[in-house]
Amino acid sequence: MRYHLTTFGCQMNEHDSERMRGVLEDLGYSRVDARDEADLILFNTCTIRGSADERFLGNLGDAKRVKRERPDALVAVGGCWAQSMKEQVFREFPFVDIAFGPSEVARLGELVARERIDAVGAFSFDGAFSGSLPARRERAHQAWVQISVGCNCVCAYCIVPSVRGRERSRPLADVVGEVRALAADGVVEVTLLGQNVNSYGRDLPREERATFAELLRAVAGVEGIARVRYTSPHPKDMKADVIAAMAECPEVCEHLHLPAQSGSTRILKAMRRTYSRERYLDLVARLRGAIPDLSLTTDLIVGFPGETEADFEDTLRLVEECRYDGAYTFLYSPRPGTEAAERLPDDVPAEVKRERIGRLVEVVQRTAAERAARFVGTTGEVLVEGPSRTDPSKLRGRLRQNITVNFTGTAAPGSLVRVAIEGATSTTLSGRQAGAPAPADLVPA
Ligand code: SAH
Ligand code: SF4
Ligand code: F3S
Repeated sequence: MRYHLTTFGCQMNEHDSERMRGVLEDLGYSRVDARDEADLILFNTCTIRGSADERFLGNLGDAKRVKRERPDALVAVGGCWAQSMKEQVFREFPFVDIAFGPSEVARLGELVARERIDAVGAFSFDGAFSGSLPARRERAHQAWVQISVGCNCVCAYCIVPSVRGRERSRPLADVVGEVRALAADGVVEVTLLGQNVNSYGRDLPREERATFAELLRAVAGVEGIARVRYTSPHPKDMKADVIAAMAECPEVCEHLHLPAQSGSTRILKAMRRTYSRERYLDLVARLRGAIPDLSLTTDLIVGFPGETEADFEDTLRLVEECRYDGAYTFLYSPRPGTEAAERLPDDVPAEVKRERIGRLVEVVQRTAAERAARFVGTTGEVLVEGPSRTDPSKLRGRLRQNITVNFTGTAAPGSLVRVAIEGATSTTLSGRQAGAPAPADLVPA
């Protein structure tokens, strides 16, 4: 049996897909590159913006064609879009055989088997946590580790809480156990994943309760793990203990993805982000004070209901003031069932949204290019990931600051090397390998 999997959405989904592969391959399925050759056509879907739905539906149309040509093939749809549709998937898309929500990865095998027997449409939407399933890692030396699922925030624009449910944390011992096993398997860099990582642990039973800062220190202490990253934190939960753990653990990288969403206090309030522009800026100042050479990235939404030119200019100035190393910029997209979609008119005209995002991207790129230029002439520690995507004669890796470096060198994937940085664009750096790393770089004190 052969399967074909297409993944949409965030790192959470990428990681869930690794587990889908794990579940299927343990059942004897093998991966195939062409949808036309698959016995099981599987999608892991996202529904964060209207554009995510559209991209997926285009692919689903292709699966319909395959199903018409080969009615024996199974079409399975998992993830956030599937959860938002529930059984309605089968009514609107009758060629779909299996549908399941984002916390049902463990049931995938069972669903496939059930569908083969019953042929009526197998589905499952209210499963429990599946954080410790076998996974087929996409990268040998880097791994994602899920520390929580779901989100208790009520950001007015966001559909995630309704499709991923309430926040549930994995016990610290489970997370550390998984990281130990990964280290034993050759992993040197882990990225802790959650919708709001730094509210981690509050839901755990009293005897297992732990904070995100404690978790960060415990993971950083696992032998063999040279780098720890995490995404995404919520600014409201970024407390002094987390900043201290970042500053004090040499394994925790100098990069933070700190979603701001807007630079206007008025809009932040309407978004229910629970911090003001001033508090966000104050947080950034404290982070920069504690963690020298921190690289900072963010998410920004343009055209939220009621956003005026003055609000938007506050966002532009936020980018200038925070000096982001990069930012994901999104056009506001009303999502069914969210507070913003139900209660606030989508009143920023499409052409104004487009004009604003154009100006925003310009400022983001200029700032990012200025920031990247600070590395030129320095030597940094790079974790080698493989050949460069643009020039296979070169290697590709990442600085601790999470910036991609394409460089001339001979090191094997998974090794940490010193690279002399010689050039910069707004998104990548270039350079050449500068000899073996000093022991101090490999074994942080
Ligand atoms: N849990 C993460 C990310 C969630 S989704 C966090 O809170 O950081 C990733 C990004 O998509 C969000 O940060 C936000 O910028 C954007 N986003 C979410 N809903 C959106 C919507 N309805 N329209 C436009 N952008 C949206
Ligand atoms: Fe969505 Fe807000 Fe939760 Fe992030 S913190 S997933 S933006 S509700
Ligand atoms: Fe999309 Fe679900 Fe992630 S909606 S962004 S895949 S949590």
